Amino acid sequence: MKAREQHRRQTALLDWYDTHGRDLPWRLKNGVRPDPYRVWLSEIMLQQTTVATVGPYFRDFTARWPTVEALAAADLDSVLHAWQGLGYYARARNLHKCAGVVASEHRGRFPDDEPGLLKLPGIGPYTAAAIAAIAFNLRCAPVDGNIERVISRLMCIEAPPPGLRSLVADALAPLIPEGRPGDFVQAMMDLGASLCSPRAPQCPACPWAGMCGAMAAQKTGDLPKRPVKKPKPHRQGIAFWIENTDGAVLLRRRPEKGLLGGMMEFPSTDWREADWPLEEAFASAPVTTKWTALPGVVSHTFTHFHLHLTVVAANGCPVKQAGAIWSLPDRLGDHALPTVMKKIARHVDKCRT
Ligand code: ADE
Repeated sequence: MKAREQHRRQTALLDWYDTHGRDLPWRLKNGVRPDPYRVWLSEIMLQQTTVATVGPYFRDFTARWPTVEALAAADLDSVLHAWQGLGYYARARNLHKCAGVVASEHRGRFPDDEPGLLKLPGIGPYTAAAIAAIAFNLRCAPVDGNIERVISRLMCIEAPPPGLRSLVADALAPLIPEGRPGDFVQAMMDLGASLCSPRAPQCPACPWAGMCGAMAAQKTGDLPKRPVKKPKPHRQGIAFWIENTDGAVLLRRRPEKGLLGGMMEFPSTDWREADWPLEEAFASAPVTTKWTALPGVVSHTFTHFHLHLTVVAANGCPVKQAGAIWSLPDRLGDHALPTVMKKIARHVDKCRT
């Protein structure tokens, strides 16, 4: 790509950003450098969560803990409590751990380059590049799904995922301008979240209209190419709805690592491809009791498999278990329950009415 052409693209996007860029609580415009602590906090909160959801949490956290030292000194439980609703408690634990490392090992200053940031807990390649670009104005290229879409269209890159990501990173690196990398990266994020949408891109309004490879080739609807999909396996399990004599239901916390790490769940058998004979499932239940199998199944699709759960219920259980957490059914909203568990609660409710 000729330097003049790169320059036209840079200027067009930055001009658009100056007038159309979103006002976000963690964002400073007009060339003002943001506080790395606030950039880091926003990027961790934005991992797998929308901008609209993050806003109030970001304001609450920065009001309570205005500096990385303040967050490091907070007790973990208060941080986890404030995180409630953002999902994935492992991220909140890493957030607190990372604040501790920055406060104690880096004298409260975030490392000012990608390799240094990558060494911190909870910071992967995307987040390290985003912080390096936004907080330190370095020419780093964070590539997530949105930026992959924007750049694969701009450059008309026809490779499918997963190879697409590194091609996009390579194509993007020389496009990031010397002077305003942070603004440029955030402008691409905004373009991906608005005009350059997955299904109905608004090409005529785009600052890159006339410079976009996909638009010229009439391929915006075909790019980025979808991944070649393998069919997802189906897994089964038996979920245990266990009520005690007060009518409260038994919850437990999932392990920190792995699927739905650190979130709450109703106990269940393993989720496996083979059927679960009920007698075998009862043997792995947390209590020995008289079970009633509820009609129907609860189905949920995860990234890598479809899950089908049969729910068995018992009540009046005098269960004494270390670490057991009991919740009245109408207070389940107080806990970090993933969608599949909410579906189980709704299923039980429906079976009873
Ligand atoms: N998504 C991830 N990081 C973001 C940011 N800094 N601004 C807007 N959207 C984002």
